Amino acid sequence: MKQYILGNEAIIEYQRLDLMSKILDPWTRRYLTALGVTRGWNCLEVGGGNGSVTEWLCQEVGPGGSVTSVDLDTRLIRLVPARNLIVRDADVRTADLPEGPYDLVMCRALLHQIASFAPEVLTKMAAAVRPGGVLFVQEPDFSLAPTTAPEAWAKTWQGLIEWGRTQDVDWLIGRKLPGMVSRLGWGHPEAATDVQHIRGTERGARYFQFFFDMVRDRVVASGCVDAALLERAHRLLDDSDYWTQCWMMTAVWARKAGG
Ligand SMILES: C[S@@+](CC[C@H](N)C(=O)[O-])C[C@H]1O[C@@H](n2cnc3c(N)ncnc32)[C@H](O)[C@@H]1O
Repeated sequence: MKQYILGNEAIIEYQRLDLMSKILDPWTRRYLTALGVTRGWNCLEVGGGNGSVTEWLCQEVGPGGSVTSVDLDTRLIRLVPARNLIVRDADVRTADLPEGPYDLVMCRALLHQIASFAPEVLTKMAAAVRPGGVLFVQEPDFSLAPTTAPEAWAKTWQGLIEWGRTQDVDWLIGRKLPGMVSRLGWGHPEAATDVQHIRGTERGARYFQFFFDMVRDRVVASGCVDAALLERAHRLLDDSDYWTQCWMMTAVWARKAGG
């Protein structure tokens, strides 16, 4: 029998990314709109995930433009119903990016997952931007989380951040991004950071419960977070009176000279 296109693992990832997109897309769209994304642009999104930004870009650039979306796993992007979409499977740590040149080259929530390759991938992304075009990156920074109350929340995040480092995941990358983009030598990039306030039981809380469930076994086995502590942090998110700050998302953008 033919295998269903999305196995269980992909469906869970779809749900997680769907929640994440609902939280982050308004921020991302606001920046991209201000940067002038419009009809006829040719865009490259790296690490397109579930394709929510890809799909929005396809609508914004219209039939006269195009969006190329690259990911290690493109099953979800391929579900985007757009005729101006080009999908490419690639591990961007090792593969060349499509050459372009593009009006916009962007990524969101990718570089923190391939932290030691981030400067190299940024250099490849920058090379694909046309003169006068825009480079846009938006990545998380969880440095507030270990400073918030109660201790169960703060310590869980401290442990998660440590565990991330062992996986080449840098959950504090946001604050390093402006410097990384500056080192491309395009002059001064601009940067801004948004902070999400999470209330127990709401969407942001459910996203992190999902996330805790996904990583629990690996994180506990690593010894970075104790199972009981993680459970206490998980339960806090069931309380509608619990408010916390969790992630910040740092957006950095720069325009290539010329054009
Ligand atoms: C946290 S998700 C973010 C997805 C999407 N950009 C968003 O913000 O909703 C990270 C995405 O990067 C992709 N990814 C991770 N490592 C990659 C690599 N080495 N090459 C290409 N894609 C990668 C994953 O498959 C996943 O789709």
